[in-house]
Amino acid sequence: MSELIKNIKGTKDILAQESVIWQFLEVEIHQFFQKFGFSEIRTPAFENTNLFVRSIGNQTDIVSKEMYSWVDQGGNNLTLKPEVTASVVRAYIQHNLGKKFSINKLYYIDTLFRRERPQKGRYRQFRQFGVEVIGSMYPEQDAEVIALAYNFYQSLGIKNLNLKLNSIGSKEARIKYKEELYNYLVPYKNKLSKISQNRLKTNPLRILDTKIDFESEILNNAPHIIDFISKDDKQHFNDVLHLLDHLQIKYIIDYNLVRGLDYYCKTVFEIQSDKLGAQDALCGGGRYDYLIEELGGKPAPAIGFAAGLERLILALEDEENQPIKYPDIYMISLGDEAIKVSFSLAQTLRNDNFIVIMETLRRSLKAQMKEANKLNSKHTIIIGEEEIKNQKAIIKNMESGDQKAISFNQINSYLKK
Ligand code: HAM
Repeated sequence: MSELIKNIKGTKDILAQESVIWQFLEVEIHQFFQKFGFSEIRTPAFENTNLFVRSIGNQTDIVSKEMYSWVDQGGNNLTLKPEVTASVVRAYIQHNLGKKFSINKLYYIDTLFRRERPQKGRYRQFRQFGVEVIGSMYPEQDAEVIALAYNFYQSLGIKNLNLKLNSIGSKEARIKYKEELYNYLVPYKNKLSKISQNRLKTNPLRILDTKIDFESEILNNAPHIIDFISKDDKQHFNDVLHLLDHLQIKYIIDYNLVRGLDYYCKTVFEIQSDKLGAQDALCGGGRYDYLIEELGGKPAPAIGFAAGLERLILALEDEENQPIKYPDIYMISLGDEAIKVSFSLAQTLRNDNFIVIMETLRRSLKAQMKEANKLNSKHTIIIGEEEIKNQKAIIKNMESGDQKAISFNQINSYLKK
């Protein structure tokens, strides 16, 4: 026998039962974001590798070791999208969106690829939804984007949300801070983990993400980036906090939150859930006021966030009210003539938005009933020779067990009651 081919590590099949929750969430995302006046943007699955190198940054984990990149037959360096922000900014510049609208409020649902070590909540192919707002420099824009993410999770009934915020100021502030942090950490070098020792050389800010206890202790007395940012940036951050207070959104200021992508400045944030274990970030985002200019566009301030859909589903798992749709009707047909009648009836019922399942295995009445039960169908409609003669079908309510003979032309109105 030949060897079975399986899916690639870090990818997964979403089978029928699970796809229901995906469909539900996708509809919720479209409806929720459109209520805030956001429009959807869809960008290609792959881009020029350079786009991500220039925006996310050479030293970041994503660019240095996680991208799926290749050279195609035409010699082009291409990469499967590891995130959406860079693509949105590319599209914004390319299509001159800044000229068409003074503010662009965009959202997306997309499939992304990062070659990370797979674990619960972390995959090599995953889905994100998110927003990018390009055009406003004001703190109310930060507050709107943060509230959008927070309120979306609340609307789905997710409890125990931890919103963490920080301000990392301007590029210059970050360079200055990097130096200070480096100087602070050097004396502890031999106490740090191997990974952090490497990061100390390449990107000491990443050490702030540590989840190792003894490293957190070392960091307790480390300098805070917020002490290196300008007066204006501090004022901006305070204004954002006041607006969040006004919206009654609870937050924690996390001085170690710097985020792992190079394009950020000023406000950065993450929303975490206790339920997720090690990969606890439901979403993350922040300002990226310099990125548009850095990618060749006319300078424009911007802010956004992106959120993992797999992690949202994990967080929802324990919540009640899972949106499962059961069939309304299971059509049981006994005999050739009954099959034809069932087909026609099923069609008229579907026109009235009922979910109707047709039997196509010619099983016995008992076997079909068993199947209807297994699928949690609300009703069965049974049609055999006798029913065709009387032009009446037997409708069984699967919960109560009640059965009634109903004329073919009355079935829709009977079930609508
Ligand atoms: P990020 O923090 O890299 O930010 O990803 C955002 C979210 O995507 C994470 O909080 C997590 O929920 C989900 N995620 C990331 N990697 C994985 C993975 N391997 N498996 C499953 N879920 C994952 C960004 O991507 C930025 N583009 C966010 C942004 C938008 N900033 C401004 N605008």
